[in-house]
Amino acid sequence: MAETQRESWGSRIGLILAVAGSAVGLGNFLRFPVQAVKNGGGAFIIPYLVSFLLLGIPLMWIEWTLGRFGGGFGHGTAPGMFHNIANKNRFIKYFGVIGIFGPIAIFTYYTYIESWLLGYSLFSLTGKLAACQDQSSMISFLKGYQGLEKNQFFFSLVPAYIFFLLTFAINIITVAGGIQKGIEKVCKYGLPVLFILGLVLMIRVLTLKPMFAEHPDWTPAAGLGFLWNPDFSSLLDAKVWLAAAGQIFFTLSVGIGVILTYASYLKKNDDVILSGLTAAATNEWVEIVLGGSIAITSAFLFFGPAGVKDVAASGAFNLGFVAMPLALNNIHYGSIFGFFWFFLLFIAGVTSSISLAQPAIAFLEDEFNIDRKKAVKIFASVTFVLCNMTVFLLGKGFLDEFDFWGGTFALVLFGTIEAILFSWVFGIDRAWDEMHAGSDIKLPGFYRFIIKYITPTFLVVILVSWIIKEAKDIILMKNMPENLVPYIIFARLILFALFVSIGYLVHLAWEKKTDY
Ligand code: ALA
Repeated sequence: MAETQRESWGSRIGLILAVAGSAVGLGNFLRFPVQAVKNGGGAFIIPYLVSFLLLGIPLMWIEWTLGRFGGGFGHGTAPGMFHNIANKNRFIKYFGVIGIFGPIAIFTYYTYIESWLLGYSLFSLTGKLAACQDQSSMISFLKGYQGLEKNQFFFSLVPAYIFFLLTFAINIITVAGGIQKGIEKVCKYGLPVLFILGLVLMIRVLTLKPMFAEHPDWTPAAGLGFLWNPDFSSLLDAKVWLAAAGQIFFTLSVGIGVILTYASYLKKNDDVILSGLTAAATNEWVEIVLGGSIAITSAFLFFGPAGVKDVAASGAFNLGFVAMPLALNNIHYGSIFGFFWFFLLFIAGVTSSISLAQPAIAFLEDEFNIDRKKAVKIFASVTFVLCNMTVFLLGKGFLDEFDFWGGTFALVLFGTIEAILFSWVFGIDRAWDEMHAGSDIKLPGFYRFIIKYITPTFLVVILVSWIIKEAKDIILMKNMPENLVPYIIFARLILFALFVSIGYLVHLAWEKKTDY
């Protein structure tokens, strides 16, 4: 492959913030506390930390290393990277298709959810949300906004569509700016703002007095206790371990393909071990400290122990878009704090979704020599059509279907493939040397053992038990309302067409190459 001038990061801190920005997202503030409450409270942290050490961190290093290695050959996405580590085997590159497909599928619904956050930021500031004083009106507000029903709050999808267009444009303009002037710049400003808003909110929530005179024991400390007091019996439940591993994947953005692409813009001897560790640690700090104290504690103050259990059971959206604004409506300057909450999530969303856009763009640039502007235009046209399907078919299960295949299944599958290719095809000796090239720190030897044996085994066990326990029913559309089945089949056909098209593009790209 001819040596072409690829982009690069402007600074090390810029890249670390970009990777941390990709990792810090809705998962940290909404998904994590819900998972913790549902899976044993404080005891969840044990399988969570074990998954972080045996799965999350090794995959982080694997992706940073593979990314930098592939970038050296002019490849910013998995097909080219896998092709090179597998001695140019004709077939292995096709596994890499998952690493482009997954990010596009996630981008398709993630940007739409992100746009709700922009809308809700404004509705908080303007006091529109403050009009909802109980759970049912807050739920009606959300359903009206999403176009799922016409009610006193919204009689059409137009407001949601305008915020969607704005959010989509923000993402596309950012990636069109390129690695340094687009992605790095947005993350360099965005993440510090996110940290500050998160800290302010955390301090405010933890210093709140009980909201209702008749419930003096609904305090922030009791709320923290509710989340963190361990139920050790939950550790014997395999489901809890699966949930912990799933959360690690989602929150660190590993197994998606995005970190591979970000790391491909590194130079040959740039450190990967310490940088990868720093980005992962930043994400964990946000998740455990900020994510673990804001949402559940606020909801606890408003709903009490029994109510908050129901909120957590009804999922992350209910916690973020219903329980949280209701609780904040009840405090002084609630509209400002409500704005902080939604805007913080919006920033967390943007810094994640731009990372989801980059692999497809890098693929077009690197493998077809298309310039960035044109690559971004192609990406924007395809994803705009796909996003519109999520917008208009939200009530028909489209979002969940895209999330399952792109945001859950593809992630675990791709993570497993990466771990096996890295240690067993590339070979742990070369892999270990490659990881340590230019490194600021040396890993203890037992990590070599973990990366070679434990991580792949852990992943295969998770993948298989998860398919048997949870995925089987979804794949076979069990428990699916009859009337949704045609839509789900349609969504699957779209996803299949996307997957096959990327596979065909990989085929075309390699057919044209003569000197790789
Ligand atoms: N890692 C991102 C999140 O936590 C996707 O939301």
